[in-house]
Amino acid sequence: MPTVTTDTVERQAAEAGRKPGRRTDEVMSASMLSEGIYELVIRDPYVARTVQPAQFVNLYPADARMALPRPFGVAKVEGDDVTLIYQIVGAGTAEFSLLQAGDVIDVLGPLGKPFDTPKPANYVLVGGGLGVPPLLYAEQKLSERNDGTQITSVFGYRDARFADDLVAPFADQTHSIVNAEGNVVDLLNDIEDELSNADQPPVILSCGPTPMMKAVAAWASKRGISAQLSLEARMGCGYGACVACVVDTPSGRLKVCKDGPVFTTEELGWEA
Ligand SMILES: Cc1cc2nc3c(=O)[nH]c(=O)nc-3n(C[C@H](O)[C@H](O)[C@H](O)COP(=O)(O)OP(=O)(O)OC[C@H]3O[C@@H](n4cnc5c(N)ncnc54)[C@H](O)[C@@H]3O)c2cc1C
Ligand code: FES
Repeated sequence: MPTVTTDTVERQAAEAGRKPGRRTDEVMSASMLSEGIYELVIRDPYVARTVQPAQFVNLYPADARMALPRPFGVAKVEGDDVTLIYQIVGAGTAEFSLLQAGDVIDVLGPLGKPFDTPKPANYVLVGGGLGVPPLLYAEQKLSERNDGTQITSVFGYRDARFADDLVAPFADQTHSIVNAEGNVVDLLNDIEDELSNADQPPVILSCGPTPMMKAVAAWASKRGISAQLSLEARMGCGYGACVACVVDTPSGRLKVCKDGPVFTTEELGWEA
């Protein structure tokens, strides 16, 4: 079994004068979090050291009939280990769900443009469904700052609240809702006063289904709150070569993998 160590990855990349390319990582653990939702922990020192919130990694299926990699946001970093949380959707994710500790998987990344969070603020992380995992890592990173940054999580789940326990250690305020109770915009309405009374101005970071993010962007722009949205698009290469992931915006066609996945409300023309 190939062994990837910090030394080999960094030395090879430095020698080539670039980031490491596609490489083989060891699976440290694999488990089911709830029905159809899986957690996969891979050992990748380069991703662990460099990934920023909302960036993604490409996982390559072993089945050669599936040539294209599958993109996943990073949910957690612990030492050299990188956690991904994903839902079974089709053949690629079904294959990944069979992985076990000790197996290997090919990985490329981190890829894409991260959330932009230079200033202290009350970062309000609004996630829906499998948009939640990349926000967990955003919360982890934001919680490491010591600049007055506050973190409010607003998560909407189809049914099982699979990430509430994972986010609790990092967020100042956690709110969640399941479909039977309502949606994240209902939750935002409920906590609007809390947000305007917080010590820091609110800034929304969002990831989830497109209709949800459009509603969140409109809610934010009506109130003059800035919002950054991490889009999901069907992807091919993941790094700007194939044009599979383009999105129409007021300033033309942009590539979600390279120009995003993070865009502002204004860049997308999603103002109220
Ligand atoms: C930036 C980004 C981050 C993502 N993060 C997560 C995450 O953290 N957890 C999670 O569960 N899912 C995430 N997704 C969605 C995930 O990539 C797809 O569910 C997965 O690729 C489906 O693969 P499949 O082989 O099971 O499905 P199939 O439908 O068999 O895939 C066929 C092809 O379509 C592509 N594809 C299908 N659905 C999507 C999709 N929604 N987005 C992009 N490509 C797709 C596949 O990559 C593959 O090339 C993310 C997508 C993007 C773009
Ligand atoms: S996925 Fe190939 S250009 Fe974006």
